[in-house]
Amino acid sequence: MKLTDSTNVPHLIEPHGGRLVNRVLEGAARSEALARAASLPKITVGEWEASDIELIAVGAVSPLEGFMTYDDYTAVVNGMHLSDGLPWTIPITLAVEEAFASAVKEGDDVAIYDMAGTLLAILHVRSKFRYHKANEAVRVYGTDDDHHPGVAALLKRGDVALGGPLDVVNLPPHADFQHYRLTPTQTREIFRKRGWRRVVGFQTRNPIHRAHEYMQKVAMEITDGLFLHPLVGKTKDDDVSADLRMRTYEVIVEKYYPRERVVIGVNPAAMRYAGPREAVFHALIRKNYGCSHFIVGRDHAGVGNYYGTFDAHYIFDNFDPQAIGITPLFFDYTFYCRACGNMASVKTCPHSKENHVTLSGTKVREMLSAGVMPPPEFTRPEVAQILIEGYAAAQRGAGI
Ligand code: ADX
Ligand code: MG
Repeated sequence: MKLTDSTNVPHLIEPHGGRLVNRVLEGAARSEALARAASLPKITVGEWEASDIELIAVGAVSPLEGFMTYDDYTAVVNGMHLSDGLPWTIPITLAVEEAFASAVKEGDDVAIYDMAGTLLAILHVRSKFRYHKANEAVRVYGTDDDHHPGVAALLKRGDVALGGPLDVVNLPPHADFQHYRLTPTQTREIFRKRGWRRVVGFQTRNPIHRAHEYMQKVAMEITDGLFLHPLVGKTKDDDVSADLRMRTYEVIVEKYYPRERVVIGVNPAAMRYAGPREAVFHALIRKNYGCSHFIVGRDHAGVGNYYGTFDAHYIFDNFDPQAIGITPLFFDYTFYCRACGNMASVKTCPHSKENHVTLSGTKVREMLSAGVMPPPEFTRPEVAQILIEGYAAAQRGAGI
């Protein structure tokens, strides 16, 4: 990775594939597309596909310029690379019902709308194909169990995929997190202005706890800055809401982080719960946002017991590190050790388990819903307070 040029000007990491994609139409091209959309076949997509369109539009999934064609889809699902050989682990597809698909042929354009009726994009259909859901489930999610939230979502989709480049007329409208909705172009600009070269990205779908803070700060010791990038796209219903998640980050960064070394953004992606494959996907997305490093801890993007605790580390061994580009920072299971008197992992702590403050997600949820503060070595009281109030509001029916 070349980080400086001959004049020693700091360089950020290159986007995946070398060029940041921008599929957002502007000016006359946008007006023309708006006018033309009215006469095109119409597809209405849900939150997941809308968030994929946003990722494509802003270059978060560069080099993808649209939904995957048959060649890319097959290469990704079966071989974890795009058809041109670039590493890629998660299919990004537009699945439609058979009845709709039969009226569309390769070469046609279709107009994509969100559930509220906003025109999002025009898809130039280059590839129409039937895909094998069970194969995708087993290869991407490691299971065809329909209790797995990613598999369940896959099974509900249409049977035919339409692939091709997108021209985006309107980004999916959002009412929340406006000032955190930074695009890769914007984060790269911010990192450059701050003179950062080595930037560590952090993915989460949870409120911040001490283990997260520890890994972030360890990584900050060896980089120029931290890009906190919680996911705010669709998650399963029992994950803590994006709103609460972001509030915990705001309060902790304000109080315990050097503000000038942290940038907070939100990742619009839907959570796939694809464990190891999603860890690589998460890393490549952060590479596009300008991160040179990415934290991968225990059971990254996991759910239930579908993946081994460190499968998301091992998967990186399948790739040429140069081709991945972004450097994963692997963390073992981290916890507070009472005997050490600090945060640690088995790599740094010699003491037995009884000294370690660990709690299961289920246990923490039980405590918070009962208004009980978890130990401060596990969750900072400022975070516990927000979550306890959030759970209480949910129990009153306000929704979290
Ligand atoms: S997720 O998107 O990966 O599912 P989560 O919030 O659970 O989000 O975790 C964020 C990151 O922190 C992931 O890289 C995960 O592996 C790591 N992580 C969470 N808790 C721990 C822990 N106690 N020890 C080590 N890594 C952890
Ligand atoms: Mg987790």
